[in-house]
Amino acid sequence: MSNDPLLQPYKLKNLTLKNRIMTTSHEPAYPEDGMPTARYRAYHAERAKAGIAMAMTAGSAVVSQDSPPSFNNILAYKDEVVPWLKELTDACHEHGCAVMIQLTHMGRRTRWDYGDWLPSVSATHLQEPAHRAFPKRVEDWDIARITQDYADAAERMKAAGLDGFELQAYGHLLDQFWSPLTNTLDEPYNGSLKNRMRFSMEVLEAVRERVGPDFIVGMRFTADEAMAGGIDAAEGLEIAKRLKASGLVDFFNVIRGTVHTDPSMTKVIPVQGMQSAPHLDFAGAVREATGMPTFHAARIPDVATARHAVSAGLLDMVGMTRAHMADPHIVRKIMAGREDDIRPCVGATYCLDRIYQGGEALCVHNAATGRELEMPHDIAPADVKKKIVVVGTGPGGLEAARVGAERGHDVVVFEAASDPGGQVRLAAQSSRRKEMISIIDWRMAQCAARDVRFHFNTWAERDNVVAEAPDVVIIATGGLPDTEVLENGNDLVVSSWAIIAGDVKPANNVLVYDDAGDHPALQAAEIAAHDGARVEIMNPDRSFAPEIMGMNLVPYMRSLQDKDVTITIGRRLMAVTRDGNKLAASVGTDYSDYRSTASYDQIVVNHGTLPLDELYFALKPLSSNHGALDHDAFINGRAQDIATNPDGKFQLFRIGDAVSSRNIHAAIFDALRLVKDI
Ligand SMILES: Cc1cc2nc3c(=O)[nH]c(=O)nc-3n(C[C@H](O)[C@H](O)[C@H](O)COP(=O)(O)O)c2cc1C
Ligand code: SF4
Repeated sequence: MSNDPLLQPYKLKNLTLKNRIMTTSHEPAYPEDGMPTARYRAYHAERAKAGIAMAMTAGSAVVSQDSPPSFNNILAYKDEVVPWLKELTDACHEHGCAVMIQLTHMGRRTRWDYGDWLPSVSATHLQEPAHRAFPKRVEDWDIARITQDYADAAERMKAAGLDGFELQAYGHLLDQFWSPLTNTLDEPYNGSLKNRMRFSMEVLEAVRERVGPDFIVGMRFTADEAMAGGIDAAEGLEIAKRLKASGLVDFFNVIRGTVHTDPSMTKVIPVQGMQSAPHLDFAGAVREATGMPTFHAARIPDVATARHAVSAGLLDMVGMTRAHMADPHIVRKIMAGREDDIRPCVGATYCLDRIYQGGEALCVHNAATGRELEMPHDIAPADVKKKIVVVGTGPGGLEAARVGAERGHDVVVFEAASDPGGQVRLAAQSSRRKEMISIIDWRMAQCAARDVRFHFNTWAERDNVVAEAPDVVIIATGGLPDTEVLENGNDLVVSSWAIIAGDVKPANNVLVYDDAGDHPALQAAEIAAHDGARVEIMNPDRSFAPEIMGMNLVPYMRSLQDKDVTITIGRRLMAVTRDGNKLAASVGTDYSDYRSTASYDQIVVNHGTLPLDELYFALKPLSSNHGALDHDAFINGRAQDIATNPDGKFQLFRIGDAVSSRNIHAAIFDALRLVKDI
């Protein structure tokens, strides 16, 4: 038996967990009508199959109708959830993976215009900034009915065969009672800590009565709100001790911080560029002071840190949640001594932002995550070995090369630059985003292990490609910035890429005009501002940086606001003219005939890319499919078999930004779903 601390079993009450790695509760927003159906089940089963000891399923499964599913949560208040959860639990148990669930009433952390349009409730009238509902302050009958709702939901979880559940108490109703910042009730539910914990204790007693003494019940709670006037570490520890003393709780899942704004949430769930494992020692201190079984997750992305957490006695169970979204097979790879093969979580937090932006969690560089029913995490070998030529080493090109090589094909890659990475290399220019390069490095290592041949510094022409005698050609040449947005003066502006790459030095007074609404604009603005420039960011939309969601926007806002960058929304840059050694910007709006002028030293435009598609069009007449993609086959997982040109010697496809300006995930998804069927 291995002596790896991470692979040692852990006994929690009557349950033996086979190792120390778990996923903490995270709602990927996959439910259908509030139920964890086939997609949800397949998502967790994939991790179970690969050896994880426990899945804390759902995220904020809601116990009451007036806690509407603001991010498509599981509806634990419905009886019909039981058979769905039973199927999920059975699918994980089959692989020896324990299954629990997080139950909650979100209180004011939701909206009133979802679900049944009931007013949200809290221990205060104060609005929660992140969701913006103004809650009703609970009455006695609310407390009584919600307590019963918790107990009913607990009974359903037991009926579904789960191994236990945890109650959520950070930013949700239970700790809205605890925190002096969010409790404006009268006694007996406010005042002393005992009063503020009264509701939680009533809930714990009610659920315990319903599930009995042997069922596992835990608490995921903030033991330090780290906010002036809130629960501090001393009071948090006192809460922990009281929870333990109640005898009603079997484990702690420790949180430090609050989640009521996007910035505070990034401290609880740190994003890329932020410290790794910032609260690990704190969680260890709670464990030491209470002697309770302790779980914790907050950016423990790598096996070495996880191993340290257990071997140093800081945690009993380590949460590696986003790490498992990037690679569901972590435990299997540890057991096989293949830690180097683990696809790294780069902290991009596309996953979490997507639950609000796109209604489903997706990993920026694992397109199979959340698509387990259609997309493989393990690539099957092909029946017939083919020669594949890939042009371009951005994320799409490298994913095509990796998947092609895993299928056993002979893969050759051309790249005009001296290094791989394309736009990802550009993104990684900012020190805060440098982890992005692991998206490229991991694929390069996977390709190297499978003998993919690379030709760098090679501008592939039609003849280079044809000389390889390929069966399949994949054009992943990406795009180049398009700055042609003006009525006149296009020649006077520079692209956001030019600033990021360092090809153009920022001037003193800079306008960044952003009508793509994505990362390069803010990255260029950040570089210019930190270089000492006075910077204004302008966009024509009704909100700022519309393609960058909450968690990703936080670090930009921190750094831009620190430098007093001006943000102007709802204005469209119309034209630029030279005015001595300055540039005169003519500014309009989509909303009226308003026009004004303003003077800058430099104008930077972020307007996405135009495809680099010359090679594609040069090869198109020579291909058997004239470059055509059968969408139905592409979507439904069948091989491409369009053959419109009997003289064509190879199939031709293009992917990613070589088709149209999109993002990293889109390029990788294009590549995976095309090449897995070649
Ligand atoms: C998509 C997503 C949804 C999440 N939803 C919840 C939730 O509903 N309840 C909860 O307690 N934590 C939630 N979390 C937080 C995770 O449980 C975990 O604390 C966080 O991701 C930090 O751990 P990690 O760095 O290992 O990912 C969510 C995280 C993600 C990525
Ligand atoms: S999107 Fe980023 S943070 Fe989320 S799992 Fe993937 S790599 Fe990790």
